[in-house]
Amino acid sequence: MQLTLETERERGLRLIDEATSVEALDAAVTAVMGRKSAFSEVQRGLGGLPAEDRRRLGLVVNEARDALRAAEASRREGLQRAGEATLLAADRVDMSLPGRRPRAGSLHPLTLVEDLIVDVFLRLGFRVAEGPEIEDDWHNFQALNIPLDHPARTMKDSLYVAIPGHPELLLRTETSAVQVRTMRSQPPPVYVIAPGRVYRRETPDATHLPVFHQVEGLVVDEGITFADLKGTLEAMAKELFGEGRRVRLGPAYFPFVEPGAEIGVSCFRCDGVGCRVCGNGWIELLGAGMVHPHVLENCGYDAERYTGFAFGMGIERVALLRYSIPDIRLLVEGDSRFLAQFGGAA
Ligand code: DAH
Repeated sequence: MQLTLETERERGLRLIDEATSVEALDAAVTAVMGRKSAFSEVQRGLGGLPAEDRRRLGLVVNEARDALRAAEASRREGLQRAGEATLLAADRVDMSLPGRRPRAGSLHPLTLVEDLIVDVFLRLGFRVAEGPEIEDDWHNFQALNIPLDHPARTMKDSLYVAIPGHPELLLRTETSAVQVRTMRSQPPPVYVIAPGRVYRRETPDATHLPVFHQVEGLVVDEGITFADLKGTLEAMAKELFGEGRRVRLGPAYFPFVEPGAEIGVSCFRCDGVGCRVCGNGWIELLGAGMVHPHVLENCGYDAERYTGFAFGMGIERVALLRYSIPDIRLLVEGDSRFLAQFGGAA
């Protein structure tokens, strides 16, 4: 029996020592000291021994059990510590790894172009003016010398807003309405640039959108002439499309100016020769003219003393040209592959 105890003790200590997990340790302890183990069998057999042997072997049993329990406890503690270390290692944050860079957005091409245009005029001494996108008939049409029977007033072109009690509200069809609001709110001189959204009943295609942007310019002062108009727009054309640009003026009709002009800029690609971008060498870019005396008077200005010029230009059109964008609808589709190309562009 003594021999059995000694072998079992050695075997137990070895098994405990070799256990590499808490489960393996539990199994080892059961194998050596469980109810069915040789160790327990010896313990149970003690009762049938003479008193002297029982006492002696009892001591051996106790000692062996203590040794095994101590080994088990220390092994268990070691395994637990190792387990925690493994967890900690798996959890560790490696501060030297490069971070996940958040995707930065970029300014929309229309914003870039609007900022560019506005900036040109701010440097020329203009200030920015604004007006509401929902306009009334008077500001959008009447004050701008657009007679009742003008086609721009029909439902075909304009989007009316159905607000009970306000039959004459519409989404402004052009930023020219800001001319009226500006003059009504201040005496001359006026040097303003008014960028903004405008609305027309159009079916979207490669060159049209029902919602688009314009920038309106208005100058009213003493002694303003057509030459001021041409010089100002030439300065803008050079800033937007390059130092070598020239402008040309052709006759055009707009009710709120007299004379009215269509302004062309020499093509930034072929400079007037004719190419795929422009066709005949010139790009028709905007409408302009000398502010009609009726408009000045409608706004309470003395048309004998003051003269002025005005112009209106589509911002989308400038963006399409400047960035060679083939379809205006790309500007509103929100495709990030398209928009990402403008990070850092200007
Ligand atoms: N409002 C015109 C349009 O939307 C553009 C325009 C033409 C504005 C001539 C002007 C101007 O100020 O003088 O087509």
